[in-house]
Amino acid sequence: MLIAPSILAADFSKLGEQIEMITRAGADWIHLDVMDGMFVPNITFGAPVIRAVKSYSALPFDVHLMIHNPKRYIADFCKAGADIISFHIEAEEDVEGTIAAIETGGAKPAIAIKPQTSVNQVLPYLDKLYMVLVMTVEPGFGGQSYMEHMMPKVAALKQKAPHLLIQVDGGIDLKTIVPSVRAGVDVCVAGTSVFGALNPQQMITDLKLAAVGA
Ligand code: DX5
Ligand code: ZN
Repeated sequence: MLIAPSILAADFSKLGEQIEMITRAGADWIHLDVMDGMFVPNITFGAPVIRAVKSYSALPFDVHLMIHNPKRYIADFCKAGADIISFHIEAEEDVEGTIAAIETGGAKPAIAIKPQTSVNQVLPYLDKLYMVLVMTVEPGFGGQSYMEHMMPKVAALKQKAPHLLIQVDGGIDLKTIVPSVRAGVDVCVAGTSVFGALNPQQMITDLKLAAVGA
């Protein structure tokens, strides 16, 4: 199980230090949530901030775009240091073109689906993708409750494409990581549970142990 702490729950006044801390704490990827106030009712940060913190960690930068018409900005995020880019299929008409732009930019393409979006929508693209992100909350905010009823989507995707990575995002903690593992998840995003812990390093260790024991 790979753990990708979401810096949405970090202290933004010292983002570089927080990314260094989470890297030393045993994170596998750094998850960066980009929100535009249009696709989701919240605004976070864009490519310049990602570029500014890139040098604070050698871990893969996993950029989750919650923005309308993401294709327009793919080149910017690739240049800023994104290694994996997830975009929402609900936000983009030109899905193939967006996947192609991510590959042209040298990053790995992933599609994210909101809780109400069926896996059927991503099936035509599976062989072009590195990962599918199954949201386990409505995108927009950290600290929401995990939707366990999303797990049949994870299991269905694993059955269709066993080699594709499946990521879940939203409400992941020591308890909810268990049904996620059982459904076949490969990468867990964790914001509040990791950055809110007294000891983030211990929390990452415990999340991995919980995954092994599941
Ligand atoms: C929500 C974001 C998540 C969020 C997860 O729209 O995509 O990455 O930061 O936060 P927690 O782990 O607190 O649910
Ligand atoms: Zn996210």
